[in-house]
Amino acid sequence: DIWPVILSGGSGTRLWPLSRTEAPKQLLALTGARTMLQETALRTAVPGFHPPVVVCGAAHVAAIDAQLSELGIAAAATIVEPAARNTAAAIALAALEVAARDVDGVLLVMPSDHVIDDVPALLAAVARGGAAVADGWLATFGIAPTGPATGYGYIARGEAIGGGVFAARRFIEKPALAAAQAMLDAGGHDWNGGLFLFRAEAFIAALREHAPEILAAARAALAQAVRTSAEIHPDAGQFVAAPSISVDYAVMERAERVAVIPVDMGWSDIGAWDAVLAHGSGDADGNVTRGPVLLSGTRDCLVRSEGPLVATLGVEGLIVVATGDAVLVAAAAHAQEVRDLVARLPDPA
Ligand code: GDD
Ligand code: MG
Repeated sequence: DIWPVILSGGSGTRLWPLSRTEAPKQLLALTGARTMLQETALRTAVPGFHPPVVVCGAAHVAAIDAQLSELGIAAAATIVEPAARNTAAAIALAALEVAARDVDGVLLVMPSDHVIDDVPALLAAVARGGAAVADGWLATFGIAPTGPATGYGYIARGEAIGGGVFAARRFIEKPALAAAQAMLDAGGHDWNGGLFLFRAEAFIAALREHAPEILAAARAALAQAVRTSAEIHPDAGQFVAAPSISVDYAVMERAERVAVIPVDMGWSDIGAWDAVLAHGSGDADGNVTRGPVLLSGTRDCLVRSEGPLVATLGVEGLIVVATGDAVLVAAAAHAQEVRDLVARLPDPA
């Protein structure tokens, strides 16, 4: 069986004022009734998968636990990072823990904050990658690019290695716009969906070669971890020695045997409010609403409130998000810039 690993360490500042340090986007219900973390956990709550290994920070353990319990899911392990050291170190902890329990264990690493509309397509892609992964490849999931996005990793497809899986000729994390456009024009490139499939031992071997400090820190932190029945608390002093670098830069760009499994699964990295608007089910005027709102002469707007009644009149293409203590009004086209706005807030978000 495969071990799902749920990464829940991000903060999602572009979704302010809803997304806060204490309530990051994965713990919120942004597109449906369930939170993004719950949607993530449900994807692999099917035969063929172990319960998930969750990797998160101490501030979110209780909320994550409550959200999973609501679904009747108990994590196989909750690894509580003593400090955020980015995804390479987080996945290193999970890989070492799984390898200790199951020498042949395969990890399906999943971000907790993405939308995947077609879960059967994801599961079919995981199955298609099985042979390559058993053979030691580090597999990524390739999404057909729709524009020269600079916030994603790009994978240049190489030769076919069976099952509709391809060797990656190159992995390019977050290219500059000109490079992104060039890859789009050239064709043969996929976006990295941010999910990974590999044998725990294969990932550990790649760390040993390309990021030995991360492997050493994670190993030492786990060796001295405090374990309760449900939680693993790696040693802080050891873990903070791990360089803070993402798995994409630390491993995927450097490793030799990286594969890509192309998959069309209705994937979206709900990074900012414009994506929530695009992904919600709109009314006849293209508005997506939640909470106490009253709309008139309003088109293509996202209007949501956690408290006060919000009324809009004669407006178009706006994002309006009200919480108990803050209101955002933004042109949908400027949704990405909310991050810069948050950086200027007098108090931390
Ligand atoms: N536990 C833990 N600890 N989780 C973390 C940490 C950490 O220190 N840092 C990030 N995460 C989680 C985030 O919550 C998210 O679910 C996932 O790991 C990926 O991190 P992001 O910070 O969202 O990465 P990104 O969006 O910049 O880039 C990645 O995803 C893109 C697709 O959305 C890369 O893999 C890109 O190549 C990819 O295209
Ligand atoms: Mg992301």
